[in-house]
Amino acid sequence: MLDESLLAAARAARIRAYAPYSSFPVGAAMLTEDGAVITGANTENSSSGMTVCAERLAVMTAVHAGYRSFKKIAVVADCSPPPSPCGACRQVLWELAGAIEVVMGNLENDVLIKPLRELYPDPFGAEKWNENPVDDSLFAQMEGWRIPVSFHPVGYMANDFNDPGKIPGNYKELLSRVIIDPAYEAGLYRIEEEPRINIIAYLHRAKGYSLKDRRPGRGNEVYGVFVCRAPLRPNSIAQTTVELVDRKKNVLTVRGADLANGTPVLDLKTIMPGN
Ligand code: THU
Repeated sequence: MLDESLLAAARAARIRAYAPYSSFPVGAAMLTEDGAVITGANTENSSSGMTVCAERLAVMTAVHAGYRSFKKIAVVADCSPPPSPCGACRQVLWELAGAIEVVMGNLENDVLIKPLRELYPDPFGAEKWNENPVDDSLFAQMEGWRIPVSFHPVGYMANDFNDPGKIPGNYKELLSRVIIDPAYEAGLYRIEEEPRINIIAYLHRAKGYSLKDRRPGRGNEVYGVFVCRAPLRPNSIAQTTVELVDRKKNVLTVRGADLANGTPVLDLKTIMPGN
C-alpha cells in the first residue's frame, strides 16, 4: 500500500479524535503485514494522564483485532513539522509492532519517514510480541465469533441522493458513481465484462435497529429485520445489485443504486451464475 493511502486513512481517523482539552486532534493508521489498515485517534480525558494517543489506540485496536505483524504506522496532525510519536507510544509500538516504519504527515502534505528503531533505539523490556496463540478449533466453543469485526471501506458512492431517507422512487433508472480508492484500482481488472455487479455498503448514517417492525417496503406489514432490506439492522450493511454502465480508471458509473451520497462501499462482487 502506498504511504499516501495510509496517510489518508490516518487523516480520516483524525475526525474521530476526542480532543476537547488540547484541541489537537491526531489520527493514526497501522498497516499490517497482510495489508489491513487499523486506525486510531487521540482520546482524551479530563484526568489528563489518562489520555490515549492516536498511535497507541491504533496499535492496541489492531492487536485486539488479532493482528500480530505490522509494516508501518502513519500519524497525521495539523502541525509543522509533522507529529512525531511521544516516548510512551514509541515504547508501546516497539513491543507490539516491532521494527516498523513511522510515516509522519500533516495537512500541508509534508511527510517525514523514520524507522521506529531510529526513533526509539534503546527500548525497555520485550524485544518482540509474546505470542499468545489460541487454538482455532476452540474458536466457536469459546464464543470467539462474538468478537466484533471491523471493515475497511474500499470506496464510496457519489450521487445526488443526499438524504438517505429520501432516495428517489425511480432510483432504478438513476446513475451513481462508485469511487474506488485508487490504491485498490487493480482489483477492478476486467470488471467491464460484468453487465451487473453487487455493491456491499456500510449504511453509515443508520442508527439502531428493530428486530420486528412494520416494513414500508413490504406493504407496511410486520416482518423480521432479516426478512427485509430496511437500513436499521444489527449490522448496517446494504447489498445492492446495479447495472455497470461505464468504468474510467477507479471510477465506476452504475445504474440502480439505492445508496445515499457518501455511503462507504465495503466490497464489490459479481452476481452468482444463474441469478
Ligand atoms: N498526541 C497523539 O495522539 N499522538 C502524538 O504523537 C502526540 C500527542 C495527542 C495526545 C493529546 O491528546 C494531544 O495530542 C496533545 O498532546
